[in-house]
Amino acid sequence: MSPEAPPLLLLLLLAALNSESTATPPERNSGRKFVVVFPENIAYYYPVPSQNKVWITTLYPSTTVTINPQANGTTTLGNPGTRSFDVNLELRKLNVSDPGTSLSNRTVQITSNKNIVVQAFSVRNKSMQTALVIPADKLGMKYFIPPISKVPKATINVSVAGMSINERGPFRLIIVNTNQSNTVTVQGKASKQVSLPPNYLAQIPLEDEDGLQVVEAENPVAVLVAHPCAFRPLCSCGLLYAILQPARNQAVKFPIPPALAADAEVFVLLSESGSSSAEAFNPDAAVVETSGTAVLYRPDLVLPLIPETDFASCYVVTNISQQQNFILIVVHNDDKDGIHVGNSPLQTLNPVWQKLNGTNYTSARLTFSSRNTVVWHESSTVGVYYVGNVSGTMFGHPAPIISSTPDYRGCILSPEVLNIPTNASSWQKSIKTCGDNSLKLVSLSGETQQKQVCNKLSQVNGSKPQEVWIGMRRSSATGEWYWLDNPSVRYTNWDEGQPGSVDGGQCAVMSLKSNCSWRDEECCTAVRPLCYREPELLVF
Ligand SMILES: *[C@@H]1O[C@H](CO)[C@@H](O)[C@H](O)[C@H]1NC(C)=O
Ligand SMILES: *[C@@H]1O[C@H](CO)[C@@H](O)[C@H](O)[C@H]1NC(C)=O
Ligand SMILES: *[C@@H]1O[C@H](CO)[C@@H](O)[C@H](O)[C@H]1NC(C)=O
Ligand SMILES: *[C@@H]1O[C@H](CO)[C@@H](O)[C@H](O)[C@H]1NC(C)=O
Ligand SMILES: *[C@@H]1O[C@H](CO)[C@@H](O)[C@H](O)[C@H]1NC(C)=O
Ligand SMILES: *[C@@H]1O[C@H](CO)[C@@H](O)[C@H](O)[C@H]1NC(C)=O
Ligand SMILES: *[C@@H]1O[C@H](CO)[C@@H](O)[C@H](O)[C@H]1NC(C)=O
Ligand SMILES: *[C@@H]1O[C@H](CO)[C@@H](O)[C@H](O)[C@H]1NC(C)=O
Ligand SMILES: *[C@@H]1O[C@H](CO)[C@@H](O)[C@H](O)[C@H]1NC(C)=O
Ligand SMILES: *[C@@H]1O[C@H](CO)[C@@H](O)[C@H](O)[C@H]1NC(C)=O
Ligand SMILES: *[C@@H]1O[C@H](CO)[C@@H](O)[C@H](O)[C@H]1NC(C)=O
Ligand SMILES: *[C@@H]1O[C@H](CO)[C@@H](O)[C@H](O)[C@H]1NC(C)=O
Repeated sequence: MSPEAPPLLLLLLLAALNSESTATPPERNSGRKFVVVFPENIAYYYPVPSQNKVWITTLYPSTTVTINPQANGTTTLGNPGTRSFDVNLELRKLNVSDPGTSLSNRTVQITSNKNIVVQAFSVRNKSMQTALVIPADKLGMKYFIPPISKVPKATINVSVAGMSINERGPFRLIIVNTNQSNTVTVQGKASKQVSLPPNYLAQIPLEDEDGLQVVEAENPVAVLVAHPCAFRPLCSCGLLYAILQPARNQAVKFPIPPALAADAEVFVLLSESGSSSAEAFNPDAAVVETSGTAVLYRPDLVLPLIPETDFASCYVVTNISQQQNFILIVVHNDDKDGIHVGNSPLQTLNPVWQKLNGTNYTSARLTFSSRNTVVWHESSTVGVYYVGNVSGTMFGHPAPIISSTPDYRGCILSPEVLNIPTNASSWQKSIKTCGDNSLKLVSLSGETQQKQVCNKLSQVNGSKPQEVWIGMRRSSATGEWYWLDNPSVRYTNWDEGQPGSVDGGQCAVMSLKSNCSWRDEECCTAVRPLCYREPELLVF
């Protein structure tokens, strides 16, 4: 390799060449392997049976999905879309008089040949909950447990004749193993250790503790907090079911849209290395900060909050309930204008913006107009929740992230590729150089693309050439400029005084120094090319 000219491979870019399988966090919601469990939804003697479903969203054509155990086995879905599958595997009642753990192999395994998104849905009469399932390859080995026992009234603890009666049993942790043997420790006042065979789960009563509780495992696990029948107002109860995010150790802010705090007494549960706390939600400062995990607690919902560092550029939100359900968007005040919902700029839908007091964020709630709605930002990031309302109680979860790479064209499955090969050569030879890498010499169709490309090039560190070939030249017959992939030139970004006369050059270069402006150049000059590939977009 020549010392002053290392190959300039941009950002994103090489990873993108390996197609859809290489997504890194926070694209943590799509994958090819999932393990799902359904906790008991209301006491087992309740007359109405519960209905559990997985909702599977495919992102690519011809995706084959296998659900195990599931009578019909493997199903192939032709086009990107969403289907639900009934699952008849509910966890049995937890034996609360057993101080240990309750092991079970009642897990559902979902595998597919291309990336998919899985959402879980459980309903038993008015008790309804949904959750976003984390793909097996994005599970963690350490989880901070939210201090639910510190929320007043979350666990009923009445004292009758000197005896403490916990009427409907405690919250439970459900620890779900993946496909290898595992040893899991629940650290707290009384630490517990559990050995889990492959694909087994443990149900562990969540002790009433002052300190932080942490789950640590030798191999990745999923961790849920659940209660089959948590108390709600008006003498009713319902399932609470939340899939926790793995522990992080970086201080981050979690903006909280006020719609999540409507009509209920709401707490924010924080757990981080060494400490935990339950704070009443403060509508005047609708943001919390922790270096661990933040969870919103209401009598009807336990909701993992989205940290601003995990805000993403594209989500798919699915209308999975028979009930009222919504898309809840959180965005920085300055970024409202770049949001799109499907093909429409959000602002054209006239949303009602609701400020997050004490922050620079704002939020809007939208109704569905189709089964799947793609919410994306053209140049920045947003947070999106799926929320709903059944008989006045709330359900919901963070919406599935498809991409954290913004693009003005839509929701990115694989980002555009920009590549500047090492070798400088003529314009003609450059076409071949790009082609050898399955790329083409870049064509710039308009100002938005010009700005996005220029912006990405400006973020690249290291040695950059002064100029690169772009895919534009003059016709030797007419002297008119044309693009390699388009005979008409509707947009130009010529530098001042450019292009010069026909003698000045028949081909075009882009400057990487002065705002990516263009000038003409002799086609036989040795210049490094800007090779390009269009992004792959998600469209339903
Ligand atoms: C499974 O098969 C049954 C009966 O053949 C059919 O009614 C049902 O829709 C199928 N379910 C799926 C998920 O394909
Ligand atoms: C519940 O656990 C207790 C204590 O381990 C045990 O004696 C009892 O048989 C268990 N009940 C059931 C239904 O498994
Ligand atoms: C709940 O069950 C009762 C009686 O079984 C029924 O009348 C009611 O419609 C059900 N509610 C819902 C939301 O399913
Ligand atoms: C529950 O009651 C017992 C006995 O009265 C007491 O020791 C314990 O602290 C109580 N827990 C809560 C959360 O109030
Ligand atoms: C577990 O699953 C991964 C893929 O998710 C696979 O590579 C590995 O071989 C599996 N291990 C066992 C023991 O089946
Ligand atoms: C935010 O502040 C404004 C102005 O003080 C107030 O009118 C509004 O009710 C507050 N919003 C919430 C959710 O507290
Ligand atoms: C959302 O789903 C519900 C229940 O399936 C249905 O009644 C409603 O029409 C759907 N809305 C849209 C816009 O698809
Ligand atoms: C909001 O933005 C303003 C101006 O950009 C800044 O001065 C202020 O500190 C920000 N407020 C918060 C809470 O971040
Ligand atoms: C849920 O819907 C009911 C009406 O069915 C309404 O009174 C209540 O305010 C709604 N709650 C939320 C949190 O949207
Ligand atoms: C770059 O050019 C040198 C000399 O012409 C040649 O040996 C080399 O193969 C070229 N590299 C690539 C990646 O085309
Ligand atoms: C380039 O350097 C800046 C400042 O050191 C850094 O913030 C940025 O992440 C780097 N960009 C890339 C693509 O590595
Ligand atoms: C750079 O070019 C863009 C158009 O591509 C233009 O909008 C912007 O104002 C220019 N900036 C400067 C500093 O010239």
